[in-house]
Amino acid sequence: MRAVLLVGGFGTRLRPLTHYIPKPMLPVGHRPMIELVVAQLALGGVTEVVLALGFRPEPFRAAFPDDVCAGVPLTYAVEPEPLDTAGAIRFAAEQAGIDETFVVVNGDVLCDLDVSRLVQFHRASGAEGTLHLTAVENPSAFGVVELDDNGSVRRFVEKPPPGTEQSNLINAGTYVLEPSVIARIPAGRKVSIERETFPAMVLDHTLFGLATDDYWMDTGQPPLYLRANLDVLDGHRRHLSCRAVAESAQVGGDVRIEHSLVGEGATVGNRVTLRDSVLLPGARVGDDAVIESSIVAGTVGNSARLSDCVIGSDGRVAAAAVLVASRVPAPIA
Ligand code: GTP
Repeated sequence: MRAVLLVGGFGTRLRPLTHYIPKPMLPVGHRPMIELVVAQLALGGVTEVVLALGFRPEPFRAAFPDDVCAGVPLTYAVEPEPLDTAGAIRFAAEQAGIDETFVVVNGDVLCDLDVSRLVQFHRASGAEGTLHLTAVENPSAFGVVELDDNGSVRRFVEKPPPGTEQSNLINAGTYVLEPSVIARIPAGRKVSIERETFPAMVLDHTLFGLATDDYWMDTGQPPLYLRANLDVLDGHRRHLSCRAVAESAQVGGDVRIEHSLVGEGATVGNRVTLRDSVLLPGARVGDDAVIESSIVAGTVGNSARLSDCVIGSDGRVAAAAVLVASRVPAPIA
């Protein structure tokens, strides 16, 4: 089974972390997120992954020089310009010559779904497309799905106004599609699968959904990306675990590391306190700093205090600075 992995988005909500690194290359539990996604797909029987991208293909090629990720062969479909989700699927499927049932996955969703269950359900229901669904408390930020008793999708509403949702089941970002879906997508322009293709399939009664209650996380915003990292540390993932401090990190004396990750090559000074935070590879934290609920890829000066902050790889926090809910540098508009 082949899978198209959508990794061509700009990751604007995670800026400044994504100024230089595409979102799927950011680490979760010390490994690039894309590796976790591909490893999970492989467990469910995916044998080849087509990376659908356009924005910054170089970091992917550099990270996987043998064109193998988590033991799975990779091919690349590089869009000349961003085609949005459905446009990207059509472009990638045509480039890769996909002509049988295939899987599509959003590159920023981490989950414990056994994709072979979704494929099985898809085949049994005779669907043209099958969505993985998960239940959330606040569905309005997602594609909200209402199901009939047989699992067919009655309604698909992308990001409905809060309070108007008729269901707490949302599009969880993994799909099984027949090649006929590709023919539904107009060529050569931006097309959103959520706003155009799925609603059209609902009208034709060919879209189905399967809800599961295993681990699921959309990592697109800083607090959720942070949580995804801490979830690996806390043992909330079925097949994943990690240590708090990566092997190549350097940590000074009298450091308190409370519910936090210190990434590869990060440097932590003396008497630092880290709480509910993630230091990304290459982060540098000076002596006596206190960092809470923050993500740091750049440099934090001596005695600085950070709370709910995101510091990009070129971000510098001055010594003794006190920052709350700040992003450094300011996200590029
Ligand atoms: P934001 O800018 O923060 O919304 O993040 P994003 O760019 O990743 O967008 P979003 O989370 O809505 O995208 C969902 C998935 O589709 C992500 O895995 C993106 O990488 C991917 N994606 C979005 N637009 C495109 C596109 O035009 N081409 C490709 N290949 N992938 C896309």
